[in-house]
Amino acid sequence: MTHKRILLIIGGGIAAYKCLELIRRARERGIAVRCVMTTAAGQFVTPLSVAALSNDRVFRDLFDLNEEREIGHIRLSREADLVVVAPASADLLAKMAGGHADDLATAVLMATDKPVLVAPAMNPRMWQHPATRRNLALLRGDGVHFVGPNSGEMAERGEAGPGRMAEPHEILAAAEAMLGGSGLVERPLAGKRVVVTSGPTHEPIDPVRYIANRSSGKQGHAIAAAAARAGADVVLVSGPVGLPDPAGVAVVHVESARDMLDRVKAALPADIAIFAAAVADWRVASEATEKIKKAGGTAAPTLELVENPDILRSIAKSPRKERPGLVIGFAAETQNVIEHARAKLQSKGCDWIVANDVSPQTGIMGGDMNRVHLITAAGAESWPQMSKEAVAGELIARIGRQVAGQRPPARAK
Ligand code: CTP
Repeated sequence: MTHKRILLIIGGGIAAYKCLELIRRARERGIAVRCVMTTAAGQFVTPLSVAALSNDRVFRDLFDLNEEREIGHIRLSREADLVVVAPASADLLAKMAGGHADDLATAVLMATDKPVLVAPAMNPRMWQHPATRRNLALLRGDGVHFVGPNSGEMAERGEAGPGRMAEPHEILAAAEAMLGGSGLVERPLAGKRVVVTSGPTHEPIDPVRYIANRSSGKQGHAIAAAAARAGADVVLVSGPVGLPDPAGVAVVHVESARDMLDRVKAALPADIAIFAAAVADWRVASEATEKIKKAGGTAAPTLELVENPDILRSIAKSPRKERPGLVIGFAAETQNVIEHARAKLQSKGCDWIVANDVSPQTGIMGGDMNRVHLITAAGAESWPQMSKEAVAGELIARIGRQVAGQRPPARAK
């Protein structure tokens, strides 16, 4: 097996430091990384650290005769399987969109015949500027792929909004999806169709108000991304979340539990279904068509709630020929986690339950870490605390082993 190769173009920006982590993680996964740095990138990370982590020399100058003689920029741009640009500043995006080639980074991007993945990073106003929107549209039209940016606090004090570069694991997930699987890792779910639900649902009260919950969608999205990396054909049915769509996944955006059920049904048949969404259990019996007004002095309105359809249960208990072979639910509990999860395994009719304690002090709901128990017919297994990506990776690896076990043994010749 050969190593997959990424050519990483490191642009100028405070997020450039995250590239060191990206290089390390990619190499851990068996992907070779060769780096080009723009002049501005050198203000944020040193070529020495980039060279040490990538275990390769770093290319910086289009007009360096030695560099051109040893490996010309055309070859440099084509020897990789994928070109990744991170961080991509507003200026670099503009140059790419305009077809500039006045330094090594832009010349490589013009000369490459390989897919390009870009992780933008800039101030929210620059990201929202009409010029950046135009450049993005042009680049998308040219077939350039994007990961992020995420929303959040910026390095500048008091600035917040979209513009933070995607995290190294997110860039790597997108890169791996484009590479068609990770460096040397097998693709245990190749040929399998996986449906995942993620995020909260919003249940309308009137045109401006809704009932919701604190789910961020991080766990469900990480599972969809991990399934795609494992080679599956993935449909992610997501409630409203603030996360970018995972690369390599078909994402269906929904609002309410009823929409989610309809879209899950439409995505079937599937081999595996994973229900990570925090579906609202109730909705308002009759949604007001106009905004409910405070009628001065009268009592506050009373909302009558009715139960939402249980998506997990309805799919898990569907007729055998329509039911996915492996149905996995989640259990969000605040007490007696394993006991309640066991009861859910029974009542919902699913095969496995991933249970977690969502009490506020655990920080799991909305946070980056998770601590889960996997409940199957064979018993309960408690996993150590790990990131939601790691939980996703472990779960997908388990599913891979389960699916492999289900395959009829090869007949002896
Ligand atoms: N679920 C679903 N549809 C619903 C409610 C829950 O598909 N209307 C799924 C969730 O995605 C999860 C599992 O059922 O996989 C358990 O969700 P959870 O909120 O833990 O349990 P509930 O069924 O809502 O039960 P309770 O709130 O009483 O704990």
